[in-house]
Amino acid sequence: MRRNDTPVLEVRNVSKTFDTVVRALDEVSIAVYRGEIVGVVGENGAGKSTLMKILVGVHAPDRGILLLGGKEVPFPRNPKEAAQRGISIVYQERGVIPHLRVYQFLFLGHEEQYRGPWGLQSERMKREARDILDEFHVVCDVEDFMYELPLATQKMVEIARAVLGVRLESRGKDVAPVIILDEPTAPLTLEERRELFQNILRMKETCSFIFVSHIIPEVMEFVDRVYVLRDGKLVAHYDLAQDAVTEEDLFRAIVGRESLAYTFEARKKTVSSEVVLRVEGLTRRGCYYDVSFELCRGECLGLFGPAGSGKSEVLRTIAGILGFDGGKLVIKGQEAFSGEPPHVRLERGVGYCSGEAGKELFFHWSIAKNISIVNLKKVLGKFFPVIRFGVERKHCRRGDGKTGNQGSWCTRRVLLSEWWEQAEGVGREMAGAKPRHPSS
Ligand SMILES: Nc1ncnc2c1ncn2[C@@H]1O[C@H](COP(=O)(O)OP(=O)(O)OP(=O)(O)O)[C@@H](O)[C@H]1O
Ligand SMILES: [Mg+2]
Repeated sequence: MRRNDTPVLEVRNVSKTFDTVVRALDEVSIAVYRGEIVGVVGENGAGKSTLMKILVGVHAPDRGILLLGGKEVPFPRNPKEAAQRGISIVYQERGVIPHLRVYQFLFLGHEEQYRGPWGLQSERMKREARDILDEFHVVCDVEDFMYELPLATQKMVEIARAVLGVRLESRGKDVAPVIILDEPTAPLTLEERRELFQNILRMKETCSFIFVSHIIPEVMEFVDRVYVLRDGKLVAHYDLAQDAVTEEDLFRAIVGRESLAYTFEARKKTVSSEVVLRVEGLTRRGCYYDVSFELCRGECLGLFGPAGSGKSEVLRTIAGILGFDGGKLVIKGQEAFSGEPPHVRLERGVGYCSGEAGKELFFHWSIAKNISIVNLKKVLGKFFPVIRFGVERKHCRRGDGKTGNQGSWCTRRVLLSEWWEQAEGVGREMAGAKPRHPSS
């Protein structure tokens, strides 16, 4: 069916350079047909998000053309204009506003269309919200707060919102929605991913999807065609229904080398016998029970378990964000008590990095400021308590760059660097290996 159809969306020879040096995209062309899921894969920094941001008007390309339904049109100048033409995006992070109710979140930014003589027409919004959730098989109440929903449901509400945005913005026009999902499954567990995909597959009748991912088995299972980007260039394209492609082929195209062996060589032991953290029968009722382990200096310890098993709660307890009901927590030989606030744990050397950059970084601040924020003592002037961010900047070559302007790999490095800049402590052991400096 596809070969002779006109793509609903096509870009040709798109290039984009940042700051005159970073060639994020180099003559990239992709096409999306009606009712298909198109994968875009590549290593960190390959240019995937840049391409997606160009499609929704966040970035302007240096060159290239956009065709919608076979007709050349200018690139959108902002996300609203993109939605008017049928293109909308669900970002990996920062998508959800936790304290909005589901129906408020669904219509966020479109309230003017629901303004009645007596104010906002909430009942109409709730009714229409119920309809769209039913249409996409999303199980939740429109009056639930977003933070109350499981992550997979939150993602589905975000996807429903993207489709709704296209419908509301393109009123009266016949547009074919193309929904971009930029690594939507990254924070989800295996079961949550499956659930999300079952829903997305059902939505294929109404929408086309561009699916950005790192997870090869997921791409192989769910997408119809896949484009591979490497260093800003399109290096491969596979039609998974027609081409005999293996996971190894895809992996090879992504990394650009033959070696596929994930070898985990026995690491040289650098762990000392000094126990820096002892967790003994730790219990927080309703979350986890009787958890015990020890962490030695220089050790990197993994905590593994399915969603809801309590692993994040154990870490949040150690960081002082949650209390505990029973058991013992000993940090560098000193017992820590329930109710002790996070800043006390921080002084004892415990850093906590949830991995959710959207919650932990100030995106409009420079990298240098972000790295310094949990470490203010070090940058306070000796005689005048003025924050000397210049001090930190010395250690950080790209410190003047805005954190929000970086790719996702770089923001994660900034996150870890925050804690690395802290005085030596358990947090460093928890982080495991020293992260590469953002400037490296
Ligand atoms: N706003 C920006 N300013 C400067 N450089 C940027 C900006 N956005 C992205 N880059 C750079 O462009 C390149 C491509 O980044 P992009 O975010 O598109 O990669 P990606 O494939 O989405 O990576 P990831 O898998 O880490 O999300 C990277 O070198 C990145 O640092
Ligand atoms: Mg990205």
